[in-house]
Amino acid sequence: MYSRIAGTGRYLPEKVLTNFDLERMVDTSDEWIRTRTGIERRHIAAEDQTTSDLALEASRRALEAAGIEASDIDLIVVGTTTPDQLFPNVACLLQDKLGIGGMPAIAVEAACSGFLYALSTADKFVRLGEARRALVVGAETLSRITDWKSRDTCVLFGDGAGAVVLEASETPGILATRLGADGHFKDILYVPTGVSRRKPPPGETADQTIQMRGNEVFKVAVKKLGGIAEDILERTGTPKSELDWLIPHQANIRIIQATAKRLEIPMDRVVLTVQDHGNTSAASVPMALDVAIRDGRVQRGQMVLLEGFGGGLTWGAALLRY
Ligand code: ACO
Repeated sequence: MYSRIAGTGRYLPEKVLTNFDLERMVDTSDEWIRTRTGIERRHIAAEDQTTSDLALEASRRALEAAGIEASDIDLIVVGTTTPDQLFPNVACLLQDKLGIGGMPAIAVEAACSGFLYALSTADKFVRLGEARRALVVGAETLSRITDWKSRDTCVLFGDGAGAVVLEASETPGILATRLGADGHFKDILYVPTGVSRRKPPPGETADQTIQMRGNEVFKVAVKKLGGIAEDILERTGTPKSELDWLIPHQANIRIIQATAKRLEIPMDRVVLTVQDHGNTSAASVPMALDVAIRDGRVQRGQMVLLEGFGGGLTWGAALLRY
């Protein structure tokens, strides 16, 4: 038994913050942001909009694309780093908003790899016969943990949600998923405080906002993304030349270009959406997948590699035949 993608959806909040808007907020320029990151604009959730609201909109679109009702779902897995509240978890809140109940509702916290972690989890349930139709979501309101006074980070992040309906199938589908993490890198990309740790650690003054040593993250990202892609291709006996599409985490165009080069995939077979919404963490991969399916680039039967990388550090990949 395999799981296959039956439908996808995405949602971006209405409010758009351009690079030119940011020029008025911090000492930066459109030129710097575009050349260093590829980002042109990002979307920001309204004050009363939470992560589960964004997830709901993306989920409705994915359910519609799959041609099923919310009540047909028997598993919900949501990847997020920015939950609405401590508990109930975002998957439970989404379940309530969809008007369904009873099935497991799992929230996965793996920063920007959150969707890959969620997808891999749901895939196991489907393969084991414990779920027939799973709703898998990546959703974030990163604007709530962004330091809007710091040009080092505030130009990078945005809000959004992407969703996928997985269904059981006798033909693939998801061929393999690979996940990895290395907690030793906990100090290069992190939020200093949270629930159990309420005060910043000694020597640190930062608050509940994203802190990052960008250069170091960049180097590890390129290495790990290239490595995990090669690993999943090797394990499944798939030559690089058989890949139709690479859909990577949308954090920085230069990381994406470096990964594509290592995999010998030309950029016209890489889905790029970072310019339109910046780094939306767990939401970026399912949103990019949805864009490429809806605009007709990703066709049924094609081979697609999804990849994520984020705080933890964590990383993940999924190889699938769409
Ligand atoms: N505008 C103008 N100048 C800036 C800005 C800005 N927004 N930010 C930094 N600078 C300056 C720096 O101060 C520095 O100035 P200096 O040379 O006078 O000291 C100069 O630009 C170069 O800074 P670098 O940090 O070396 O720039 P770099 O080319 O490395 O780009 C960036 C920085 C974009 C952050 C890059 O390192 C990057 O993308 N890293 C990866 C981040 C990432 O992918 N994170 C993903 C995970 S996020 C998650 O998991 C939640």
